[in-house]
Amino acid sequence: MRPLLAISLLLLLPLTPAAADDLDHGRRLAERWCAECHVVGAETPRFRRARPFMAIAAKEGLTREMLVKFLLLPHATMANSPLSAADANDLAGYILSLGR
Ligand code: HEC
Repeated sequence: MRPLLAISLLLLLPLTPAAADDLDHGRRLAERWCAECHVVGAETPRFRRARPFMAIAAKEGLTREMLVKFLLLPHATMANSPLSAADANDLAGYILSLGR
């Protein structure tokens, strides 16, 4: 195997999907992709326009399916969702966990 290929494969390893419902992964995704506009944890977003995730999680009748679907669509000023279906699932699980 060529060294460059071996290195690229090694770099890809941490990206392989882990458990089906990974709250920690969801939190990291949220901090990376959503914290700019939504309150994710304790940090205040740079542009404070969108509703905090805790408020979203507290919405009556909100289901994981609704969240996952929403997350896979482009929303607000985010032109392209950077999320895979598995990412959206972890993220939805994380958001919902804030309301429980
Ligand atoms: C560029 C700013 C911005 C980013 C980044 C962003 N959002 Fe949003 N989001 C908004 C705005 C503004 C709204 C309200 C308007 C709308 O629904 O499009 C919103 C609405 C939502 C809603 C619906 C809230 C409700 O009350 O129904 C959810 C869920 C949501 N965002 C999740 C996310 C997640 C998860 C991420 C990260 C992957 C994210 N957002 C990233 C700006 C953003």
